[in-house]
Amino acid sequence: MQEAGSKEVTEAQIAVHWKEEEFVNPPTKFIAQANMADPSIFERFKEENFPECYREYADMLSWDSYWHTTLDTSNPPFWRWFVGGKLNASYNCVDRHLAKYRNKAAIIWVPEPENEADEVITYQELYARVNEFALVLKEFAGLKKGSRITFHLPMIPSLPISMLSAARLGIIHNEVFGGFSAKACAERMEDSKSYVLVTCDGYYRNGQLIDKKADADITVEEAKKLGINVEKVLVWRRYPGRYLSKSEMVEGRDYFIDYLMKKFRGKRVPPLSMDAEDPLFLMYTSGSTGRPKGCQHRTGGYLAYVAGTSKYVQDIHPEDVYWCFADIGWITGHSYIVYGPLAVAATTVMYEGVPMFPDAGRPWRIAERLGVNIFHTAPTTLRMLRKSGPMEPGKYGYHFKCMTTVGEPIEPEVWKWYYNIVGKGEAAITDTWWQTENGGFLCSTVPALLPMKPGSAGPGMPGIYPVIYDEEGKEVKAGLGKAGNICIRNPWPGMMQTIWGDHERFVRQYYSKYCKDVASKDWHAWPYFAGDGAVQASDGYYRILGRVDDVIKVAGHRLGTKELENAALTTEAISEAAAIALVDELRGHVPVIYASVKPSYTPSREIELEVIANIAKELGPIAKPKAVYLVPDLPKTRSGKIMRRVLASISNSEDYGDLTTLANPDIVETIRKMVQGDKGPTKK
Ligand code: WTA
Repeated sequence: MQEAGSKEVTEAQIAVHWKEEEFVNPPTKFIAQANMADPSIFERFKEENFPECYREYADMLSWDSYWHTTLDTSNPPFWRWFVGGKLNASYNCVDRHLAKYRNKAAIIWVPEPENEADEVITYQELYARVNEFALVLKEFAGLKKGSRITFHLPMIPSLPISMLSAARLGIIHNEVFGGFSAKACAERMEDSKSYVLVTCDGYYRNGQLIDKKADADITVEEAKKLGINVEKVLVWRRYPGRYLSKSEMVEGRDYFIDYLMKKFRGKRVPPLSMDAEDPLFLMYTSGSTGRPKGCQHRTGGYLAYVAGTSKYVQDIHPEDVYWCFADIGWITGHSYIVYGPLAVAATTVMYEGVPMFPDAGRPWRIAERLGVNIFHTAPTTLRMLRKSGPMEPGKYGYHFKCMTTVGEPIEPEVWKWYYNIVGKGEAAITDTWWQTENGGFLCSTVPALLPMKPGSAGPGMPGIYPVIYDEEGKEVKAGLGKAGNICIRNPWPGMMQTIWGDHERFVRQYYSKYCKDVASKDWHAWPYFAGDGAVQASDGYYRILGRVDDVIKVAGHRLGTKELENAALTTEAISEAAAIALVDELRGHVPVIYASVKPSYTPSREIELEVIANIAKELGPIAKPKAVYLVPDLPKTRSGKIMRRVLASISNSEDYGDLTTLANPDIVETIRKMVQGDKGPTKK
């Protein structure tokens, strides 16, 4: 946790002691067909050839005009990529594939109810729908280049269609993850000054029909409180012509998109030629303060980076059936369900629901039926499937050639299950480390060229030069078994441009910590601070240990402890709150809240439940704490800082170490007894 500095990264220290696993070689059958099996790639992308090496990715795209400067470093750390180049992301993901792949499936959507038919959208059909909806945005909603639009959409095909329609006209989209609350959506609308909300009537999740339009009504109300008048709510219907929601449509504000699109049936709107540096989308994510930050991604660099990595790491060929089992409301979905795969003419599979509906065989039935041969998902999904149906994959006749994992460290045991049981020993695995801020993979093996190592992400990607620094900025060398803060020494095209509306925070958050010279215009002076702890083995592979700041990863999703605490404090009875991460077998971590009540209140189960309900309301169901402890006082330093680290150690039954800096050390034992009962003090 932040206040204690890197020396207190307890989890990191535990993970450092994992034993190094043996290398596993990729299958020869995979190597024989891989897009990138030529080791000279490492030569081409080495530092001497930077930044021009990135031409290789940018050349995978179709440019309206070619760029004159690959990397402009004149305003550090606001790097500019492919300056002077012009292109359109929607054109690159749709139009340009028509000549060759018109009748090929672009998107295959699998509804959660198993008796419902899949929806297969060819490139031609995608082209038609994207044009028609783009016209709705332009002609009906009056949006234009640079306008922001907010989507609060679940995993239905209308989501990628909405993204590509906005991108066609340079409208900056801002998709809010479906598991976030209406209020969280309103806050993101306010921050991005967005006046049009795109939602849907309903969708299925875990067998339940969720009323999404009802959420939109709350978003509009909440946005109003923040000074945003939502002018239009555009509603996709899951079954065109049939309305699933109980919420009434408000005249003059709410419109059915299928109805609006009829007017533009068969009409086309040309893709707008965008500067490479024009923003493509915003994606909000949690950081160490209460306010989520809008990561602003650029058009040219981002698209080049996701296309390049989709081709070389995910090994997508147009004839593959590729399934990234993640949510588009997460950066993984933006980069590796929509933009990357479609840029390389993939068939990308989308699934509406949860992994285990109706049982742990579901993903493997989908894979078998659709002939999926590339599979990408998060450790949390794998842990769940492994627990409920460890032998299920063997019952289905699919064959994966490669698989990837993302979002959290994967335990070697889970990795081995992934490799042997899910992959049937036939697939190469890449463990891809990166972040919302980064656009695409930072550390990973290139699957046909390097062996895999369970639990390790691998070396930096071609063109990415990582380094580990200690708190003082001294390099922590490979092979020492010591953890430090992983940084990237160089700029790369997928990196976000800035935090929407807050350039100063962008610099402070990612660059101030290790900047060597603020006056320097040389990129070497500006390492990117990722906020993760890592250790590098002597073979050069990095093992990522988890966040070093106040961010908790819950089932792969990022939540800020400050956001959780602010949400807990909306409870009338609560005077102070601290959020910590409890290690969880399936979800990686789950939040736990420690709080004290105001003097006029007595702790009660009702107050605990109220805290849980308020967190769900403020942030969304994903953020619900596993437990709330109403304690007499929180452990604090003499300067009044809450020692979350001590609370985390109590919850996780770890040794809480030195308490001498606390102003109220006695409270620790009281809290420990409340949480752990009457056994003696915890030791590891
Ligand atoms: C963690 C997700 C270990 C890390 C793309 C990072 C990982 C945070 C891995 C970003 C991995 C992501 N191994 N940890 N392969 N991939 N992480 O922004 O802590 O949702 O900082 O982006 O996830 O989460 P975000």
